[in-house]
Amino acid sequence: MEVIQVDNYSAMSEKAARMIEEQICKNDRSILGLATGSTPLGLYEKLIEGHKTCGVSYKNVQSINLDEYLGLDKNHPGSYHTFMYENLFKEIDISMEHVYIPNSKPLSAGEECQRYDQVIERIGPIDLQILGIGSNGHIGFNEPGSDPNSTTHVVELAASTRKDNAHFFDSIEEVPTHAVTMGIKSILKSARILVLASGKRKAEAVKRLLNKDLSESFPASHLWNHEDVTLIVDTDAYKLVSQKGSEDLAR
Ligand code: F6R
Repeated sequence: MEVIQVDNYSAMSEKAARMIEEQICKNDRSILGLATGSTPLGLYEKLIEGHKTCGVSYKNVQSINLDEYLGLDKNHPGSYHTFMYENLFKEIDISMEHVYIPNSKPLSAGEECQRYDQVIERIGPIDLQILGIGSNGHIGFNEPGSDPNSTTHVVELAASTRKDNAHFFDSIEEVPTHAVTMGIKSILKSARILVLASGKRKAEAVKRLLNKDLSESFPASHLWNHEDVTLIVDTDAYKLVSQKGSEDLAR
């Protein structure tokens, strides 16, 4: 795992945006794995800026999102469909036919998971997967205890995750209890993985990740089983990591 330390959220977002743009420059038909939440918001702003000022084009890019809440209308302000459209897709030239997000109101959640796996199989492998990290170590919505061999599946969200995400809703009661998420196995099939972590809220999770807390109770630790992971971490998120420990382990 390569660890890149940066000063703050803005520097993290900038660095991540340049990596994505380099990927697209290398291959304009890249498949991006995208995440939602507070972490990638700055990254998406920088990508929009790069598109508008430098002409970076997403015309041939395809994207596969990690997850979506179950039970919300697609157009609900808290849905990940809305999040992606409002914070990225509507501002760049990506074709909406090239973007994939799990259906939030499928007739059958089980069939939706199978359909999404087929999408990943057909479109993938993902060239560059962006990940945030939950304060409890989740990646996608693979909560502590998740099966490392899982593909797309339905999850019950941890109470801490619903609390962490309540700021996107009017109240915590509105945060859905379940979601569809790509599984750990599907995430690890990506050619490259870029993990972003910013702020004190992530310091404990970053410490556990870099101290190689390898266990199913810490899903992000499965990232150590992938050979091309880069973590971009800012000073606040890095502050619980002992310098020596991280230098030794992050190799
Ligand atoms: C989002 C996702 C989650 C978030 C994580 C961190 O699609 O899959 O794993 O990356 O919950 O969320 P934020 O960035 O809001 O702290």
